[in-house]
Amino acid sequence: MKMRRALPADAAALAALECRQPRAAGWGEKGFATELAQPCAYIWCAQEQGEILGFLALRCAAGCAEILNVAVAPHRTRQGIGRALLRQAFAALRAQAAEQVSLEVAQDNVPAQALYARAGLKPLGRRKDFYGPGCDGLVMGMNL
Ligand SMILES: CC(C)(COP(=O)(O)OP(=O)(O)OC[C@H]1O[C@@H](n2cnc3c(N)ncnc32)[C@H](O)[C@@H]1OP(=O)(O)O)[C@@H](O)C(=O)NCCC(=O)NCCS
Repeated sequence: MKMRRALPADAAALAALECRQPRAAGWGEKGFATELAQPCAYIWCAQEQGEILGFLALRCAAGCAEILNVAVAPHRTRQGIGRALLRQAFAALRAQAAEQVSLEVAQDNVPAQALYARAGLKPLGRRKDFYGPGCDGLVMGMNL
């Protein structure tokens, strides 16, 4: 599997993958295209035989990175792709001397929380009812 930075031409493929994972952020093709045009945005994708199997989108400014959107194709989850995307993103962030990374995840999104915890991110706080009544947003983060 190859890891690479996404290009503007990937926006449609990224959106197609994203819409197969309802817990992803729901940016759609326009959202990906807008994000890819931001100078502080980085979208990594995992590709095999020309097919994008997963992506991780983050922004980084002033040494602080925030992960904004992550998804792996449903037929390829639990095969280490999410972990590999985080590893790639963190290595690139360290190479540009970023110091911290954080993200927010819904309290009932157990797979994503497990992925992030396994990568070393720790709970930092909670945004009450962020995802609707009874579903808080958990803020997680770590030093790089
Ligand atoms: C969360 C997601 C990106 C994980 O990707 P993945 O490629 O399946 O993750 P990996 O195979 O690399 O898993 C790495 C570790 O994360 C944890 N993990 C991943 N999926 C899990 C699950 N369903 N249940 C429990 N732990 C899980 C495990 O600790 C796993 O290590 P292990 O397989 O050795 O036990 C994927 O499930 C997904 O696309 N979910 C929908 C979108 C989403 O929730 N995005 C995040 C929004 S904040």
